[in-house]
Amino acid sequence: MSGRLAGKVALITGTAGGQGRAAALLFAAEGAVVVGTDVQADAAAETVELVRAGGGVMDSTHPLDLADEDGVRAWIDDAAARHGGIDVLYNNAGATRFSPVADTSYADWSFVLRNELDIVFLATKHAWPHLVARGGGSVLLVGSTAGITGSLTNTRIAHTATKGGVVAMTRQLAAEGAAHGIRANCISPGMIRTPATEGDLLAADHPMRTIARAIPLGRIGAPEEVVACALFLASDEASYVTGANLVVDGGWSAVLPGA
Ligand SMILES: NC(=O)c1ccc[n+]([C@@H]2O[C@H](COP(=O)([O-])OP(=O)(O)OC[C@H]3O[C@@H](n4cnc5c(N)ncnc54)[C@H](O)[C@@H]3O)[C@@H](O)[C@H]2O)c1
Repeated sequence: MSGRLAGKVALITGTAGGQGRAAALLFAAEGAVVVGTDVQADAAAETVELVRAGGGVMDSTHPLDLADEDGVRAWIDDAAARHGGIDVLYNNAGATRFSPVADTSYADWSFVLRNELDIVFLATKHAWPHLVARGGGSVLLVGSTAGITGSLTNTRIAHTATKGGVVAMTRQLAAEGAAHGIRANCISPGMIRTPATEGDLLAADHPMRTIARAIPLGRIGAPEEVVACALFLASDEASYVTGANLVVDGGWSAVLPGA
């Protein structure tokens, strides 16, 4: 352990797998007390075991649907009471549906807003008083290249709106947090191999499966490459960084595809 988060209490949402599990393992290895949560109970418990097996400190509340406001408030208030406050909120959890505008039902639209915007709002709102009481802290949001680009291959009107919304929320949180010492930053991953993408965009029959050809670095990213950036933004090394959107996409959104 090298202790880049030593002494910090870090709340991470969506710790059952993918980037959330990778974040729990890395943040704990860097000395944070990690508090997780997820709607998937068994896999969330498995993450706690993995962290503890590696010598880290983690507890978790699961199952919890992060759109349940009372449950979210209790998760955060209990964590702050147990550990004497909180320093970091990493809004990693999300669930989405991809479809073009004409085929998107209002139910699909609402599902994506609920699971990609409402849950970020609720956790941030209820963590905020604890961060203010602490005299500062770090709030991380997870956007996406979907929030800053359109796509011909992956039609995703609702997901584009929510992830663009997350980038915008980051800037407002940076404004509101500054006077309290709270920094707010966004990480926007491109195509990352996780349970979510393996079951959908990277599946054998999906047109996006060959997308690595259009990514300048020539490959799909790993969860560890995203959470390494989150670690920096959560730590005091990023003490002068707030309102940023750090794109972690192998250059995908920065470079137009060649002919
Ligand atoms: N994988 C990618 O390529 C990619 C790209 C851009 C952005 N992202 C974003 O990164 C974040 C993590 O994604 P991932 O790829 O690790 O996905 P994942 O599906 O592997 O993990 C997301 C976790 O969030 C949990 N979750 C979702 N809705 C929840 C709710 N309402 N309450 C509680 N838990 C809930 C899920 O159960 C799951 O464990 C998400 O915000 C996602 O939008 C992912």
